[in-house]
Amino acid sequence: MSAVSEGKTQQEFGDDPVQVRESDHYTKEYVGGFADKWDDLIDWDSRAQSEGSFFIDELKKRGCKRILDVAAGTGFHSVRLIEAGFEVVSADGSAEMLAKAFQNGRSRDHIVRTVQVDWRWLNRDIHGHYDAIVCLGNSFTHLFDENDRRKALAEMYATLKHDGILILDQRNYDAILDHGYSSKHTFYYCGDDVQVYPEHVDEGLARFRYGFPDGSVYHLNMFPLRKNYVRRLMREVGFQHIETYGDFQETYKDADPDFFIHVAEKAYREEPDSE
Ligand SMILES: C[S@@+](CC[C@H](N)C(=O)[O-])C[C@H]1O[C@@H](n2cnc3c(N)ncnc32)[C@H](O)[C@@H]1O
Repeated sequence: MSAVSEGKTQQEFGDDPVQVRESDHYTKEYVGGFADKWDDLIDWDSRAQSEGSFFIDELKKRGCKRILDVAAGTGFHSVRLIEAGFEVVSADGSAEMLAKAFQNGRSRDHIVRTVQVDWRWLNRDIHGHYDAIVCLGNSFTHLFDENDRRKALAEMYATLKHDGILILDQRNYDAILDHGYSSKHTFYYCGDDVQVYPEHVDEGLARFRYGFPDGSVYHLNMFPLRKNYVRRLMREVGFQHIETYGDFQETYKDADPDFFIHVAEKAYREEPDSE
């Protein structure tokens, strides 16, 4: 039985945390206590300010209406997209995070339509096709196994309309692996007084520590995805064109941005990408 179904509040990493490198482990990381803390970590107002209307503009520009937020977490993007007029379904593998997303929606007078589902089996529980899928907040990094990454991307691809798009973001792990960590803390991790840094990094693991003002400490074990590797996987599952942005800008130097945002198009183009 998973940590989620037992309603646990403590994370579990066992005796040797740096050996925990499993795609299923997120269910033991996003437990009740951490879900509650997540909104302290991610200050909604500063996050909305630093993001601006990047995602909303990308979606509107392409005429998207039905959006599936596959990593809804505590609902930040789902709620923003609902408020921007999109029709949104909010999915996540963690019941704790979805409960919090629903609560956050209620407190802003919205009903967040939640579905608990793991990306690897997305089509089992999500029916119908979407104009866009968003997978944001450095979520895809939770998959440790390449087969799981391919399966998840293929499931997302299948859930999109013929001309749908996937918007997926990730930390700039290339910079962390090649030059060490130096987050400007501008995007995403905007909560005041929350200390975020990688405790351990190797080619197979980035273990981040999140320290909160009340003294509580949580960790996330993540796979350090290289940018071009993610782009390659997207192309291999069938996405025809992928645009990658750095911290919401089209032009970036590889070592500079904290985050990369990939916008992957399913529509067949007459002239395929040369990459
Ligand atoms: C880093 S949080 C991001 C939440 C939200 N998008 C945000 O930006 O605030 C990652 C989310 O991905 C979810 N997740 C991780 N692996 C998953 C999987 N295999 N299937 C479904 N959800 C998953 C976790 O439960 C968690 O809520």
